[in-house]
Order: sequence, then C-alpha cells, then structure tokens
Amino acid sequence: MTGRHDAETTDTRAGTGGADAPHRHAAEHLAPRGGVRLAGVRKTYGAGDNVVHALDGVDLELPAGSFTVVLGPSGSGKTTMLNVVGGIEQATAGTVEVAGQDISGRSPVDLAGFRREHVGFVFQFFNLVPTLTARENVEIIVELTGVGQAKRAPELLAQVGLAERADHFPAQLSGGQQQRVAIARALATDPDLLLADEPTGALDLTTGRQILGVLLDLNRAGRTVVVVTHNASVAQIADTVVTVVDGKIRSVEHQESPADAEAVSW
Ligand SMILES: Nc1ncnc2c1ncn2[C@@H]1O[C@H](COP(=O)(O)OP(=O)(O)OP(=O)(O)O)[C@@H](O)[C@H]1O
Ligand SMILES: [Mg+2]
Repeated sequence: MTGRHDAETTDTRAGTGGADAPHRHAAEHLAPRGGVRLAGVRKTYGAGDNVVHALDGVDLELPAGSFTVVLGPSGSGKTTMLNVVGGIEQATAGTVEVAGQDISGRSPVDLAGFRREHVGFVFQFFNLVPTLTARENVEIIVELTGVGQAKRAPELLAQVGLAERADHFPAQLSGGQQQRVAIARALATDPDLLLADEPTGALDLTTGRQILGVLLDLNRAGRTVVVVTHNASVAQIADTVVTVVDGKIRSVEHQESPADAEAVSW
C-alpha cells in the first residue's frame, strides 16, 4: 500500500482546494481498494505476418489506493494495458488480478459483470450521450448496469462540482464540465478502480488541472486510479509512474511526494 490518502490529511494540493474548487465535496474516506496485479501478461492481435504483440510479457503490481500514471509513445500498448486491466479485453496469456479477483480467462459475459462491479472508465472524448442531460448521463449507467443508485446522480455531480449543471445537455457544457460528467458517470457504480485514458487530452491546461484534481480526490477517498497519457508532466502527480515501450514495461518509479495538479503544465 502506498497510503497516499493516509499521509495527506493536511496538504494543500489542488484536490483539496478552496471554496470554489470543483471537487470540494469529495470528502469520503474509504479503505484502499482496487489493487492490480499483472503477471506475464500478453495481448496479441492478428496472426502470421500481421501479428502485433501489443503487450509482450507485462509484470506489474499497483497496490490498492495507488495513483499510477502510465507513459509511453503512441502504439506502445498503454490503452491495451488499461483495457486488459479493466476487463474490456481479454489477455492472450498471463494472469490479471483486480480487486483481489483473478479475471484472466473469464468469458466476455463474466468480464462485463466484473466491469460493472469494480471498474469505472474515463475517456479522452468524454463519450456522453448528447440527447441526455448531465444527470441522465449518470443515471443511465445505473439503469443499464443495475449497479449503484440512480438517485445518487445529483450527489455525484456535486462531487465533481457540477451540481448547478445537472439539467444541461453535453452541448451546453464546456469540455472540462463534460469530462466531469463523464467522471461522475464512471463513479455511478462506485468502482474500486478508476481507469482514465488520456482524460486531459482534449482539454486546455486550466481545465485539465481541474480534472486531475478531481481524480486525485477520488484516489484520496481510497480508489485505485490509473491514468494513461502522452504527457510526461502529468506524471508528477502520481505515486507510481510506469513507462511502457513496445508492449513491455520499461520502468516503474515510485515518487515519495507527488506534486499537486497545479504543478502540471502543457
Ligand atoms: N484491435 C486491434 N487490432 C490490431 N492491432 C491493435 C488493436 N488494438 C491495438 N492494436 C495495436 O497494438 C499496439 C498497441 O496499441 P495501443 O492502442 O495499446 O497503443 P497506445 O500506447 O495506447 O497508443 P496511443 O498513445 O496512440 O493511444 C499498436 O501497435 C496497435 O496498432
Ligand atoms: Mg491509447
């Protein structure tokens, strides 16, 4: 355990912010949950001359409650790793354990059940339903998955600083606000593990920092968070920095005193 949330009750990171911080409601504190263990993980696409080893023997352990940033060049396997960890894709070989469960070799139906119970995803382009309001975008996940409580939608939107925008449609929201709706949606099932693929990739710096602050707060509440990005500056906020090259782990670094979201720039 890295215990970042244990050690940081008095800090002034962006995540704990002032009266107008967008995430000031994220005060829940839970036991760390959602740890990840990969052993000998391979993911192979195609066959013969077209074979691609997207993950080529990955061993990695991310303790429950850790905040990891995964860096690596385009095509290095970052998204594939996130998708294998989150049960969107099945590993070709190796062991994948999440939240104490071995999900290697599970059927697609089983994996869908696992995702519903344990994982929240946040994507670069938000992926909100344009014809639904912010509140409805959160509620629909509860309806679709049968996990969580639809009536918590306003509370989750308040947690990401969007209480006043609950009845707005995505087109009426800024990019950062849309991404906050997407985070509230990912929280609707109360996941142990939050996986974000380039969550700030479509955002300006100020908005991006706010989103990273929200993710830090959610991590402080006990969730394991993994952020994939091209942006090396984002790695400052992580307690664990993983670099992936050609489907292999190149390095795993632990940072004693991660910076706050305000330190990030691009
Ligand atoms: N469904 C697929 N079929 C075939 N090859 C794939 C598939 N998905 C990914 N790949 C290949 O696997 C490798 C890793 O892809 P991945 O999307 O994980 O990279 P990435 O690190 O996320 O890149 P980026 O930073 O551009 O998003 C790439 O060579 C990619 O072309
Ligand atoms: Mg990717």
